Amino acid sequence: MSSNQFAKDVREGLSSTPKRLSSKYFYDAQGDKYFQQIMQLDEYYLTRAELNIFQTQSQQLLDLFDSGGAFRIVELGAGDGMKTKFLLKYFQDKGADFSYCPVDISANVLEELRKNMLEEMPTLNMEPLAGDYFQVLSDLKFQNHKRNIAFFLGSNIGNFRRDLAIDFLSSIQRNLKTGDFLLIGFDLKKDPKRILSAYNDSKGVTKAFNLNLLNRINRELGGNFQMDAFDHNPIYDPMTGECRSYLIAKSPQQVYLSTLDEAFEFKAWEPIYMEVSKKYDLGEIDDLAKETGFRVKKNLFDSDDLFTDSIWEVV
Ligand code: AVI
Repeated sequence: MSSNQFAKDVREGLSSTPKRLSSKYFYDAQGDKYFQQIMQLDEYYLTRAELNIFQTQSQQLLDLFDSGGAFRIVELGAGDGMKTKFLLKYFQDKGADFSYCPVDISANVLEELRKNMLEEMPTLNMEPLAGDYFQVLSDLKFQNHKRNIAFFLGSNIGNFRRDLAIDFLSSIQRNLKTGDFLLIGFDLKKDPKRILSAYNDSKGVTKAFNLNLLNRINRELGGNFQMDAFDHNPIYDPMTGECRSYLIAKSPQQVYLSTLDEAFEFKAWEPIYMEVSKKYDLGEIDDLAKETGFRVKKNLFDSDDLFTDSIWEVV
């Protein structure tokens, strides 16, 4: 992502009504650290729920994956690969014929992951691929005619607007071949109070995670946002399943960004829309699969039915 694009998106977002910033910019070095802390929070159940699925249903997953012989796991945005590692170890122990291709834009992230994985699994057949998800998938499409299984974990799809989720999933589908799979994580609709507290934790880490984007704008675009002039306000709408986070200006103020040489006015209690984390029900998951050229082969759930890893087949 070029800093020009960042500047352009920030200008556009702060000039619109209502004001908005894109949560894709949360993940600078400090944002990555906050997200690691979020995943450890008691209230943030998503990561543990998905790990629970991998821990309790690894054999089911293997039976689905290797029904056509050798297979390749292509993990889109692997991060630290913590959850996947558990599954890979199981598959190795069972003597499965597979390879692991983590994909990330950052070659550094991939190098860390490669070292880390090979330390624990020296014989793992691993091929890290730096680049754009769709390009990587299209390069792999007909290699060896192995079944490709794209992994898109962690309910990351929940952070996409619906039209963008459809574009994204359709592009994945176009770059897979018939019979390939997508394993995709969805956070499920549940008690609204439970969802809200996952995004409004008692330690204030999620608040810091949101405010960090204002800090990033200060650092990278010469801004003068005052952190204590904004409050973190997440809300959950059970009708749409959208948990939306806002930062709210507590008083009227002006923020100046020297890189843009532009000032932005905030009224008292004016919100900036920061992030959506959409929660799904099974009907919506089915519709999304159909709309993007897949069919749902199986939904696997954690022991508390909080989360599903949905396995989709390209039709
Ligand atoms: C990365 N993504 C799935 C997280 C989520 O739950 O929407 C990001 C996050 N935002 C606040 N807490 C976690």
